[in-house]
Order: sequence, then C-alpha cells, then structure tokens
Amino acid sequence: MPFSTATIAVPHPARYLRLVTARLDQEASMDHAADGRATITFSQGTCVLTPARGLDVIAAAADSAALASLRDTLTRHLRRCAGGEDLEIAWTEAVSGEDMQITDPVVGDYLLRHCTGTDGLLGELTVVTREATGTAAGMQVAADEGAFLTMLTRMADARHAVEVGVFTGYSSICIARGLAAGGRLLACDISDEWTSIARRYWQRAGVADRIDLRIGPAIETLQALPAEPRIDIAFIDADKPGYPAYYEEIVSRLRPGGLVVLDNVFLGGEVLDPAYQEEHHTVMRRLNDQITADERMDSVMLPVRDGITIARKR
Ligand SMILES: C[S@@+](CC[C@H](N)C(=O)[O-])C[C@H]1O[C@@H](n2cnc3c(N)ncnc32)[C@H](O)[C@@H]1O
Repeated sequence: MPFSTATIAVPHPARYLRLVTARLDQEASMDHAADGRATITFSQGTCVLTPARGLDVIAAAADSAALASLRDTLTRHLRRCAGGEDLEIAWTEAVSGEDMQITDPVVGDYLLRHCTGTDGLLGELTVVTREATGTAAGMQVAADEGAFLTMLTRMADARHAVEVGVFTGYSSICIARGLAAGGRLLACDISDEWTSIARRYWQRAGVADRIDLRIGPAIETLQALPAEPRIDIAFIDADKPGYPAYYEEIVSRLRPGGLVVLDNVFLGGEVLDPAYQEEHHTVMRRLNDQITADERMDSVMLPVRDGITIARKR
C-alpha cells in the first residue's frame, strides 16, 4: 500500500484544517481525534491531516493509481480552501512497507554519536558478531538501543530481569550492566552456537555471574517461572510469532511499575502497511493494538531503530 506525504505551509494550520473538513463533510467520511488530527476517507483511499507547524498530510491508497487520484482530489480541495490555485503542495514520492525509512541514516548516525558510547568490548562484540554470523548480525541491537536498555534497567532499579532473545549477548550485557546490586538476568535463547559467543563476552564484560542462560523455547522457560509478580524489567527480541505469548507470560509476572520492552515493533516498516499479511505482520499488528488497549499497562511506542514499545504495569 503506497503512502505519500506533504507539508502545507499555511499561517493557521488548525483553522485551515477546520475549513477543509467542513468543505469535505458531505463527500467523504470523517474522523476527528481529540488532539485535532482528522482522518478523511475518500473512495480512493485515506488521508490523515495533522495541524503542526504547517498542515501535515499523509495520503494512503491500495495502489499507485488510486494514490495519484487521491492526491489530485485532496490537492484540489486544499487549494480551494486556501482561496487560490497557487498554494504550494509538494507530495513526496510514494513509498510502501519495507521501503519506508524509519530513521534517516544521517539522523541515525547522529543518534549513535550522542549516547553513552559503546565501549571497546561492545564494539569488538559487534565486529565479531558480523564476522561469525554474517547477515544474521543485523539482529543485534544498535548502540543507542543498548544504552537505552541499560538506562531503563537502572531506572527500574531492577533486581529481576528477563531477556527473550540473546543472540551473541549485546543486549544482555547492556541489561546486566544496569542491574541493581545482587540483581540477576534470566536470558532465554534456543541457539547454543550464538550464545556461546554471548557467554565469552559476558565473561569478559564481568557480568557472567549475574546471567542465567536457559537454552530452549523461551515460552517453556517463561511458563516454568514462579507465578508471583516480581519481574522488574523484561526485553523481548526473539521470534515474532512468539511475542504475544511472551508478553502475556511476562506481564502476569511483572511487579507493579515493572517494564516490558518489545523490539522490532515496526518490522522494518511493514507493520504500517496493511498490504503485508504474513503471519509475523498480522501477529505484530494485533499485538501492537492489544498493548495500546491493555488496561493493565501504560505504554509508549518509540521510533528507536526498528521501533520499540515500552509498557509499564499499573
Ligand atoms: C533478534 S535476535 C536477539 C538479538 C539480541 N537481543 C542482541 O541484541 O544481540 C533473536 C534471538 O532469538 C532467538 N530465538 C528465536 N526463537 C526463539 C525461541 N522460540 N525461544 C528462544 N529464543 C529464540 C534466536 O536464536 C536469536 O538469537
């Protein structure tokens, strides 16, 4: 499903949006959010209009022909409401799913330069992982996400932490470093091969004595945990179809105020595009919606790398 965006420079975006929606009220279906955003559904597709510094517009349609027609229709209405044909509306090229750029590479590089840095050991683990695992190395969390995990673990004053998806151990080192004195990390994975690298680096990072590695399907490890709610923080970064079950097992064992952090909630942008309908897409989309509506939790989704959700138990 292709998307295209435009920002329209008008002096009073909210007032202008009211004019546009009043004009379209009869010919399109309209949904107004409490924060002033409007979603307008035409026969060709859907537009979301957000008053910000200008009026931000997103247009989405089933295919590129429908998108072109949708943009023409909206452009016509927007120009009429602005009182003239000369209003500048520059639509971006259409992008869909995997082509969506979540973080501009220049911004991504700037972010990496502005977090508590990767030390030599984590840097070496990144290089070793790339050499040992090839393209699988892309599964490793980036340095800024790792620094964020250490910070969240410290903020949660965590003594009981859980990780689902260890790989070569980068995120486990970050979590283990944030643990309170005497704290422990239960680390779940199915791969002996990848976690043998993790074990080596846990030793060298001086955190091996704080980590209990359990090899086997994570769902079995989680279900075998005591039912009492004592987990302070959990990080889910493993097989995507397993996420809903991991989330449930963890949330029921989180202490009030405890955090669950889920990685890859955008699936490279494909979650945002309903044209993608494989199992991992539908599972992740449904889970993202469920977490938002979960009355046990407060949650926020952030564009950190491939998207993370942080949910805190009430
Ligand atoms: C995305 S990687 C984890 C990356 C890691 N957090 C890091 O920063 O390096 C996913 C890991 O989940 C593991 N995994 C896949 N299915 C699993 C399952 N059913 N139970 C436990 N671990 C699983 C894989 O072996 C892999 O190491």
